[in-house]
Amino acid sequence: MSKSDNLALVIVGASGDLTARKLIPALYNLHIKNLLPSGFIVFGVGRSEYSDDSFRHRVVFENENLKDKEGDVQSFADRIFYESIEDYEKDSFGTVKDKLMSLNEAHELHENFIFYLSTPPSLYMTVPEHLAAHGLNDESNGWKRLVIEKPFGYDLESGRKLNEQLLKNYKEEQLYRIDHYLGKETVQNVLVTRFSNGIFEPIWNRNYINHVEITASESIGVEDRGGYYDNSGALRDMVQNHLLQLVALTAMEPPISADADSIRNEKVKLFKSLRPIKPEQVAEQVIRGQYLEATIKGEKAKSYREEKGVDRESRTETYLALKFFIDNWRWAGVPFYIRTGKRLPTRVTEIVLYFKPTPHHLFSKLNEVSSEANQLVIRIQPNEGILLKFGMKVPGAGFNVKYVNMDFHYADLEGEEVPDAYERLLLDCINGDPTLYSRGDAVNAAWEFVSPILKAWENDKDLPLYGYPSGTWGPEVADDLIEGKDLTWRYPCKNLTNDGGFCEL
Ligand code: BG6
Repeated sequence: MSKSDNLALVIVGASGDLTARKLIPALYNLHIKNLLPSGFIVFGVGRSEYSDDSFRHRVVFENENLKDKEGDVQSFADRIFYESIEDYEKDSFGTVKDKLMSLNEAHELHENFIFYLSTPPSLYMTVPEHLAAHGLNDESNGWKRLVIEKPFGYDLESGRKLNEQLLKNYKEEQLYRIDHYLGKETVQNVLVTRFSNGIFEPIWNRNYINHVEITASESIGVEDRGGYYDNSGALRDMVQNHLLQLVALTAMEPPISADADSIRNEKVKLFKSLRPIKPEQVAEQVIRGQYLEATIKGEKAKSYREEKGVDRESRTETYLALKFFIDNWRWAGVPFYIRTGKRLPTRVTEIVLYFKPTPHHLFSKLNEVSSEANQLVIRIQPNEGILLKFGMKVPGAGFNVKYVNMDFHYADLEGEEVPDAYERLLLDCINGDPTLYSRGDAVNAAWEFVSPILKAWENDKDLPLYGYPSGTWGPEVADDLIEGKDLTWRYPCKNLTNDGGFCEL
């Protein structure tokens, strides 16, 4: 791969934990794989006091997330610099600019800068404005890119406002909105599975697919993020972004080419085809829950309300299951189900397509979609892979049918390592490829779908919030969402093929 222009990656809010946990390990991997240009520096900016040296110690030499420090660790650390600022006010960015320009000269960076906002979201409007006030958005000499982490707003209104504010000083092409799910290799593979195989696309529609189910479960609770999470909840934290991105990749039309805009145009089109859920449908189509105390493997797991930073009477949802429809030619009438939650039995993200039964039943009485029949499971994580369930004759007399698994596991690809999402996303931003970043209109369109649900919860305090014991699959009533006799969610195990039987959680 050809290397990009020389550049500086400026991390604003660099003393926060994202730098040491995700950004530096990803950059280190790119460094040892020799994928960074020779003129590349990381410039951390934050309110904590560090010198270049003490910052290098913190994020490189003493960083537990940096594995395999055998390699070129010193030469990597030499690329890192730091400037502490008193506050995130306009004047502080004058100091930042001075140091950045001297680094620019020393390392021949040609004024190519990426600004990565790793600050609290409350600064997403002001910091870009201050950067712009010092000309750090101006591309007359060298390109300037701005990377923002979610949340992109709190609801439709604030999401739109944030976009409008950013677009006052930046062009859309300069904005890189991170959704780390898009950096996952298995998520990108959804497009490849669909559009590089002649066998799937002809049946990928309402004529053959009965329903689609997407799960993103986590076994952990909110950990030390209670303060953030209590103002967010599963709908904003996981559905508005990650899960709707999975829906888009699963359901969108084939793009005319694989470039950023063609793919992103199709996603927006799909978001716009999501049938809005009306307030009176929320009770029936949206199930929310909150985890309760339980004993898991002999250890007490706290209830959500006991977590640090969480209101003792909080009504924030830590579980959400949703049924909805896509109003377009391909998907008319096909229910889509998504669910996500914290403190569920295991960490699994997967997409399951349930196929319709055969039109004429020769071999068995099975004439309905069943939780055993044809399914295509796209496993995003862990035990990444794809599983197809199909009927096979049981050897011996008669024509007894048994459903068996045909599976592929990424782990079987010899010599191929699946890179971390941040590694891929940072490299794409360095190379100026926004395909795997969210475009502003897509973020707004996703809010348009999600906001009516938030409003309904706000306006109707009687809409239930179900408790579920930690370590279970969420409120039982979520099973009733699934249309069809005897149909429930798939209850996946850690191991892709290990379903229906013994399950190691
Ligand atoms: C983040 C959410 O965006 O995604 C977290 O804020 C969640 O609450 C995380 O735990 C899940 O990401 P992953 O990659 O572990 O599935």
